[in-house]
Amino acid sequence: MNADGLSDQGTGQATSTPSTGSTSSTKSIGVRLAGTGMAVPAKVLTNDDLAKIVDTNDEWISQRTGIRQRHIVEKEQTVRDLSIEALQQALTNADLKPADLDMVICATLSPEMCTPSTAARVVADIGATPAGGVDISAACSGWVYGANMAAGLIQTGFYRHVAVIGVETLSKITNWEDRSTCVLFGDGAGAAIFSATDNKDQGCLYQTMGSDGGRWHELYCPKDESDLPSNGHGAQFSGQYNTLQMNGREIYKFAVSTLRRSIDKAVKACGLTPADLAVVIPHQSNARIIESARDKLGLPPERMYINIDRYGNTSAASVPICLHELMDDGKLSTGDHVLFIALGGGLTWATSLWRL
Ligand code: ACO
Repeated sequence: MNADGLSDQGTGQATSTPSTGSTSSTKSIGVRLAGTGMAVPAKVLTNDDLAKIVDTNDEWISQRTGIRQRHIVEKEQTVRDLSIEALQQALTNADLKPADLDMVICATLSPEMCTPSTAARVVADIGATPAGGVDISAACSGWVYGANMAAGLIQTGFYRHVAVIGVETLSKITNWEDRSTCVLFGDGAGAAIFSATDNKDQGCLYQTMGSDGGRWHELYCPKDESDLPSNGHGAQFSGQYNTLQMNGREIYKFAVSTLRRSIDKAVKACGLTPADLAVVIPHQSNARIIESARDKLGLPPERMYINIDRYGNTSAASVPICLHELMDDGKLSTGDHVLFIALGGGLTWATSLWRL
């Protein structure tokens, strides 16, 4: 294990031939991005609004994080409502019906209940029963974990259409008296449907999923005293249970190094260079983290997508919301190389390099 948490042994699986980046002949089923969707609550909370709640200001928040506003759910709105809206939009864009879905994967750290899964209820609510439904908990990395799993499921030949939703209502697990965290998070959902295709050149060329649970206390949500780290961890606790606690500085360092190294490793494994990527879609944790990695890799601004100014950090929802915006704007085409990368609580991290 390296200092930045990336395994030297590498969990990365490249299905491409390193010298050319072409798809390996061992891959008998291609996977295409069939459609995307997103949903955010109507209510917007600006930095100026936050300055009325805690001791902060627009200048501090925008300069340190790049965030200008975030969307916040009403009390009665849940991750299920946002998931349904995003998934229905993805189905329409994919020209598919709910009954076409074989599996729905829902990545969230803010589910309605610990059981049943959000995914199982979304499957029922949209009329996709008896499709499979499963939630995954990998914090901000969750949707990228899900996209990697969807690629694998489709390649077994047993699943044709797999939906992956990233969704959060982080406002419900935020300590609104803690200025060090409450300015960061937002609510929303993004959904993508991946489908089997005869075109074997399309699909996930490379993927990694990693974790380091030894660093769990750097971002956690304790339910009571028994969940608090024992002395010596230097962990943060703002005094309010069932809200997110974060060691911002440690996560920041982890994020900067992981982002740059992961992108480097992924493109090299596929015989590509960063310049070959149509776009990198990183988890939107902090604009400074993303810009620092972008500068070190020598990528121009338009090749590293940032929308944190409008949504804040929506954890598992951030990457699929970015993907949907790019698709909706017609910025991605068949054959483009796109790299998804995320990291967060767990600690977890994941990369997924696709040829669309
Ligand atoms: N407004 C004004 N001042 C503030 C605020 C605020 N909202 N928050 C903290 N401060 C103050 C602090 O009290 C401190 O004051 P002091 O110097 O007098 O003690 C000063 O600002 C600096 O605080 P730092 O915490 O050192 O600020 P930093 O530059 O590290 O920025 C931040 C904090 C934005 C949280 C940064 O550390 C960060 O982005 N970390 C990574 C977060 C992340 O990536 N999370 C991803 C995972 S999220 C998930 O998985 C759900």
